[in-house]
Amino acid sequence: MAQEPLRRVLVTGGAGYIGSHIVQTLLLQRRYKVISIDNHSNSFPTALSRVSQIARDALPDDATDQDKQSTVIDSYTADLRKKEDVEFIFKQYGKGGIWGVIHVAALKSVGDSSDFPLEYYSTNVAGTLQLIQVMDAYECRRFVFSSSATVYGTPPVVPIPETTRLAADSVYGRTKVMCETILQDLCYAEPEKWRVISLRYFNPAGAYPSGLIGEDPRGRPGNLLPLLAHMAIGRVKDTTLRVFGNDYPTRDGTCVRDYIHVMDLASGHLLALDALGPQSTVFDNCPTRARFKGYNLGKGKGQSVLEIVEAMRKATGYDYKTEIVGRRLGDVPDLTADPSLAEKELGFKAPHDLDTMCRDLWNWQTKNPQGFGED
Ligand code: NAD
Ligand code: WQD
Repeated sequence: MAQEPLRRVLVTGGAGYIGSHIVQTLLLQRRYKVISIDNHSNSFPTALSRVSQIARDALPDDATDQDKQSTVIDSYTADLRKKEDVEFIFKQYGKGGIWGVIHVAALKSVGDSSDFPLEYYSTNVAGTLQLIQVMDAYECRRFVFSSSATVYGTPPVVPIPETTRLAADSVYGRTKVMCETILQDLCYAEPEKWRVISLRYFNPAGAYPSGLIGEDPRGRPGNLLPLLAHMAIGRVKDTTLRVFGNDYPTRDGTCVRDYIHVMDLASGHLLALDALGPQSTVFDNCPTRARFKGYNLGKGKGQSVLEIVEAMRKATGYDYKTEIVGRRLGDVPDLTADPSLAEKELGFKAPHDLDTMCRDLWNWQTKNPQGFGED
């Protein structure tokens, strides 16, 4: 039977932690020709070479030429803030040449966003706006957006449903709310043209099970789990974890978060991409005909800081010391998802448990003590 031609999908930030796992998931489907744009401000090109290697190794013995072609990533080192560079890339494929975009590239540190707001608005908001403008000019109007649970600020209800008002309380979170608002307004204005799904990630964790790719931030990790991995492998000299507050209204007083395996998160993007297709029904019940939907991607299970430390102690064998210090500005007691809408409408599942996340994270870290090893 003749093979369906490959759909070209652009992943911005494709070399990053989440982006590389999304690209890996797309390649294994052998239905997509993946294009990546990344300026490598927080990633290494090696990640994409390894993703291609994983896909090649997974090819069946009777792989067709098209199957082999699907393992080759069209990777562009470019900055989303340079509209002419983004236009140049779209021009290579012509009008309608790119079927859809998964927009992952962004700056993502809540702390840094307060110190460098213009950087964050320039990359996360202006960069997204320019991308959408170029997409429109090249008749590419299927869009999956990387959003974040941070858009909910301090949620009035936990587990958090998508109907919760968006009220971010950080510059970073506000960049995500602004992007969602721009996308919603665009879909209201042109309901026949645009199909957009915004995925609100909770706390991604873990790595590809073989350990070939994983999270490798430049500099000291901002997030808890990669920090614990760096402590255990000796990439940071701290032997004591500073726990930011234990006086929250939670079961052990420390903050609760909804950790989701990055492979489950990546699978959610495949489901979202498919939901942008002609057969999809996810937009059928949109009240305003605007084809824009937001979905939470989480497990719906919260774990506290101390429970995470315990899980990493088990996975690494490292004897973490902890010291309770003051609360961190901007932290909220509990960010646990209600994932039922994504489960119902996208068929989303997040089966990997916390022990698997910690085991896969540690496997990546021990196989790559210096990460991708490029300076
Ligand atoms: P990451 O830093 O690993 O990946 C982001 C990628 O975008 C990097 O490869 C970086 O080089 C690239 N990039 C940044 N600015 C760019 C620019 N101007 N032009 C081109 N490329 C650029 O981060 P991540 O953890 O993989 O996050 C990916 C997305 O998921 C982001 O949109 C982030 O806001 C969102 N998100 C992340 C988390 C998390 O905890 N990691 C949680 C919720 C949402
Ligand atoms: C988890 C918990 C800390 C470090 C962040 C961003 C969010 C999203 C995911 C982009 C918190 C505690 C941490 C430490 C600690 N990123 N902690 N000591 O804050 O839930 O979310 O990453 O979208 O926008 O805010 O994740 O890993 O930073 O912290 O006690 O040295 O661990 O207080 O409760 P967070 P995190």
